[in-house]
Amino acid sequence: MSLNVELLAGSFAQVKDRGSEFAAEFYSNLFADHPELQPMFANTQMEEQKKKLFDSLVLVVDNLQAADVLSTTLKGLGTKHVKYGVIPLHYPMVGGSLLKTFESFLGSDWTPEVKQAWVDAYTAVAQLMLEGADYPPEVLSLKN
Ligand code: HEM
Repeated sequence: MSLNVELLAGSFAQVKDRGSEFAAEFYSNLFADHPELQPMFANTQMEEQKKKLFDSLVLVVDNLQAADVLSTTLKGLGTKHVKYGVIPLHYPMVGGSLLKTFESFLGSDWTPEVKQAWVDAYTAVAQLMLEGADYPPEVLSLKN
């Protein structure tokens, strides 16, 4: 994985101590941008989920240089997501709302370079998660 570790870690450090606020804003953006995803979380303990989501971002950033850890963990996370009813098409939706949240937290530090670093990182994360997900071909054909 060739990612801009310095920019990713530096920008993440700016939100790391505001994890619960960040995760709350992320889900609020996600459900505003894509209300059709909200029913998937109907039985979810959202406070727990916000923590899990943010912990997974911490894990990614902490392991940017440990490809084996990232690969194993994210493929496993991708396998679980099949059971949650997540399809490949949902990944860009989550990615868009996540980037929007970063933009709002980082303000003027959300430079084009930082944005590109996060687009690349999210793409790599989603790709690993999808590698761990065994979708039937008809579901994969919905990917865009
Ligand atoms: C980079 C992408 C993503 C990351 C890092 C991520 C992270 C996580 C984590 C850490 C969990 C908790 C797993 C556990 O309990 O062991 C989870 C659960 C879940 N995620 Fe994601 N996720 C991603 C993408 C998506 C997408 C695209 C969707 C589609 C809407 C989604 C919907 C869900 C749902 C419905 C659950 C289950 C909540 C429950 O337990 O009730 N996630 N996710």
